[in-house]
Amino acid sequence: MRKGSETVLRPGGERAILVHRAGTCCAGGGSPIKNEFFALAQAAGAQVVGQVYNRRLRPDPRLFIGSGKAAELAVQVTALEADLVLVDESLSPAQERNIERVVHARVLDRTGLILDIFARRARSFEGRIAVERAQLKHLSTRLVRGWTHLERQKGGIGLRGPGETQLEVDRRLIGRRIRQLEGRLETVARRRAGGRMLRRRNGIPVFALVGYTNAGKTTLFNRLTRANAYVADQLFATLDPLLRRINMPGIGKAILADTVGFVSELPHELIDAFKATLSEAREADLLIHVIDAADPESAEHVGVVNRVLAEIGCAHTPQLEVYNKIDQMNGIPGWRPGSREHPPRVYLSAMSGMGVATLIRSMGEACGLSSPAIRLELDSAAGRFRARLFALDAVVDETPRPEGGWMLQVRMPEAVLESLRRHFAPECARRIDVDVY
Ligand code: GTP
Repeated sequence: MRKGSETVLRPGGERAILVHRAGTCCAGGGSPIKNEFFALAQAAGAQVVGQVYNRRLRPDPRLFIGSGKAAELAVQVTALEADLVLVDESLSPAQERNIERVVHARVLDRTGLILDIFARRARSFEGRIAVERAQLKHLSTRLVRGWTHLERQKGGIGLRGPGETQLEVDRRLIGRRIRQLEGRLETVARRRAGGRMLRRRNGIPVFALVGYTNAGKTTLFNRLTRANAYVADQLFATLDPLLRRINMPGIGKAILADTVGFVSELPHELIDAFKATLSEAREADLLIHVIDAADPESAEHVGVVNRVLAEIGCAHTPQLEVYNKIDQMNGIPGWRPGSREHPPRVYLSAMSGMGVATLIRSMGEACGLSSPAIRLELDSAAGRFRARLFALDAVVDETPRPEGGWMLQVRMPEAVLESLRRHFAPECARRIDVDVY
């Protein structure tokens, strides 16, 4: 991308040059080639103004890309007025610093970039602290940068004593903060074991969009929350842009959550933080697994996503596979039933809207919403439970009982009903169509 009329600087968007590893991209001096790293840079809010291709088979220990390539990069940084160089590899702190010295711009490696995206996207308490912990761990190896001028003897009150350098103090403070965050993560994990908090709080079905980066989750999220016929575009109480309350025909009120996309070769030190950003998926009644149908590697991606979902405890959460972008393959929208090997599939285009109505129907069916209404017998002491069912629009019919209380017919996912009943009225509400309660 060149400077000039075609380049629009987004407010706050840093101008970035991408450095790709050999073989992941084709070289070229024209417009930037879009690939996963390009999409990651954009997700972090960078404006990609150029790309450089590093063809070395073995990284240079000092400069990673070699002195010739670094000099070329320095010229590009000046010519394109770049603020940032993003390298699609893991760099050692020394390599980052050495490239910065040559190119006179900030350098961030793949781990740093992905951490930045996680920090922007992590919404849940657990996700935020896990990302902060990973950021601090990453930072602690890079502390030398920017602090060298402070590296001198310092013996402050409460610090470890005379003879300690500023750098050691900083490392120690960071270590203390990391331990504090780890303690909080343990507390969250204990609380989570006690129940599905999000769902219990709201008593309505939760759908979570999961999938590889670039599969089209956000496009589908926007389509489902924007389509006026289907939704009241109402922010969920947390004012979280990735968690919305929607209103769908046949489903009624529900919560739709978007999650951070999976990326290939996730640096291993980020795996825990990534899993923590998926906490919305743990709370979901149904996972909507978005797959790029036009991507030749989609089958492999599906395997990776499912493995991670199993690791975070979602192996048994019902799933719908959504094959997106069928417009790119002249595909036909449709639905295939599930089998022992795979979940039901919906084929659609989130961009054009083709097939989205089928998805909404399938979401309802997957939650058991097409099943007959459930009959409940409520004692008069179950007033709060009854009020909540009405507030959720779940009551289809109601008749007072001669002995006091009510007979209700409700339509809502069974798991949600059970969790509400346990919460509000364990003793005074009984299900009478099946001998469950
Ligand atoms: P991450 O946020 O990185 O996880 O990506 P995502 O899964 O949220 O994907 P996103 O919705 O940002 O879409 C990625 C790209 O695919 C964008 O350029 C979209 O315009 C494009 N895209 C999404 N859905 C469709 C579709 O149905 N058809 C076509 N042709 N492109 C689509």
